[in-house]
Amino acid sequence: MCGIVGYTGKELALTPVLEGLRRLEYRGYDSAGIALAVNAGEKLWIEKRAGKLGNLEEILGDSVPKSHSGIGHTRWATHGGPTDENAHPHLDNEGKLALIHNGIIENYIELRAELEKRGHVFKSETDTESVAHLLSDARKSHKGDLAAAMREVCKQLRGSFTLLAIHSDEPGRIVGARRNSPLVVGVGDGENFLASDVSAFISHTKRALELGQDEIADITADSIVITDLSGKVLPHNEYEISWDASAAERGGYEHFMLKEIFEQPKAIADTLLGRITGLDGEVTKGINLDGIDKVVIVACGTAYNAGLVGKYAIEKWANISVDVELASEYRYREPAVDSKTLLVPISQSGETMDTLMAMRYAKEHGARVFAVCNTNGSTIPRESDAVLYTHAGPEIAVASTKAFETQLVAMYLLALHLGRVRGTIDKKLMVQIEAELAELPAKVEQVLETVEPLRALTRKFKDSTSMLFLGRHVGFPVALEGALKLKELAYMHAEGFAGGELKHGPIALIDEGTPVIAIMPAEGSLLAEKMASNIQEVKARGAVIIAIADAPLASADHLVRIPKTHEFLAAVLAVVPLQVIAYEMAVARGNDVDQPRNLAKSVTVE
Ligand code: AGP
Repeated sequence: MCGIVGYTGKELALTPVLEGLRRLEYRGYDSAGIALAVNAGEKLWIEKRAGKLGNLEEILGDSVPKSHSGIGHTRWATHGGPTDENAHPHLDNEGKLALIHNGIIENYIELRAELEKRGHVFKSETDTESVAHLLSDARKSHKGDLAAAMREVCKQLRGSFTLLAIHSDEPGRIVGARRNSPLVVGVGDGENFLASDVSAFISHTKRALELGQDEIADITADSIVITDLSGKVLPHNEYEISWDASAAERGGYEHFMLKEIFEQPKAIADTLLGRITGLDGEVTKGINLDGIDKVVIVACGTAYNAGLVGKYAIEKWANISVDVELASEYRYREPAVDSKTLLVPISQSGETMDTLMAMRYAKEHGARVFAVCNTNGSTIPRESDAVLYTHAGPEIAVASTKAFETQLVAMYLLALHLGRVRGTIDKKLMVQIEAELAELPAKVEQVLETVEPLRALTRKFKDSTSMLFLGRHVGFPVALEGALKLKELAYMHAEGFAGGELKHGPIALIDEGTPVIAIMPAEGSLLAEKMASNIQEVKARGAVIIAIADAPLASADHLVRIPKTHEFLAAVLAVVPLQVIAYEMAVARGNDVDQPRNLAKSVTVE
């Protein structure tokens, strides 16, 4: 997820562009850059720097030329680390066209190869730069019409994108395009804006136009033309923004955590993009998986729970032994590790010291390292042989939600890849899993559409002193994750159990009215029957059952229905209601949802 802003109008562009970038920095802060159109036909003015926006602002002295139109970008790195060269905007070879991008261009490698054959010289590792060069050629073939060129280029792109471009031949003109990534027009008086979201320009105007899928916006200070990819002019659907500036940063949600819960379908879709039928060379080029005889997953907290789900998929589809280890414990027991071990550190931040030290221990003893990480260029991926980046975008709330979901998806993708490489996965099953993966974003969307009543239900248990979570199979790690969410957000005692473990002690915890959340295995499965018995056992002792299930369940006092999917993928759907329960409990208890007490987003100490 990146921050995108364009300004054209009566003001000098630098100020509104910088202000917009400041408002959008929550969308990405790996690098920042600005391009300004100054004098027609001359090179564009451009400055860009790795790191937070402040690094860029520091170098913007009085040398910035006076310009009334420009574009700016804050980056959350996906393809290519957070460096000056990879920062946006990206230029064509003449330095007269600048482009910024949010999203993922799935076919950028083939586009780049074709463009290099045409003599284009690339300076970065990004997917975006391919589009800048493509647009430059297209503009020439459209006799300098930037909007017509943008329409042609969009037809050649696969993936998700918000694009903004300017050309020095036409100072004052900005052309934008979007597909599966947001772009909104800010309608001003003698000025107009384009941005990822309204927070970039809300202090200038509350009039906005939402762009639809595959639509092009062609703006100047006093004109806005919106077309589809055929060039057909479309009507303006103008609306009044009702949010204030801070609400706009949260997309209108009360907390970043709730926004990130609702971003999960897109985060999952972006993480799956181009990977369902195989992990391309980009991901696996640095590692040789021959002769691996053991997988060890090391992680902490929520990432550890994702690893526990991964164990089921990797063992079943790749037929290889998997250990899932708490990173903080792993190296201190001096485990047996050698070159046949594939170590899989899972980390959203890529900076968790426990996970980093566990990884270093295993590397020193010969292990090969395949990381799963959400933060491009962070320490763990930098020290790994290969990395499968999750594309959840920045996760601002301390409590991990969309990162967890994309870690689960990464586990399935890794398990499929290992199954293919080792020739152990049944082809029919593989095709079924691929189909079910593709449906996950829509199924998570379905769950999110039904969670509203859950918020009221949660408040019934606001004063409970404890909540128990039961699960079996992949539902067990989901139970652990649900308990962790409740602990870290509601500061309430919570514990996750394997359903079969209850009778070995924990059932003594059940009191009259104890809330128990049961994550049900797939309808009709043997484990669903076993879990139904567990529910009877705890109900008989006074428990109140909230069941998360893909089918009706008479024994549940409250039922949260989730769609059916493959038994391993059910974890992605079952966890969503648990996230909402934890969120609502925190709100009901008046806690700081996005910054819970005693916690940090990234634990960079041991
Ligand atoms: C989960 O909600 C917490 N934010 C925490 O458990 C987190 O998952 C853990 O600290 C690991 O962080 P990482 O993924 O950045 O390594």
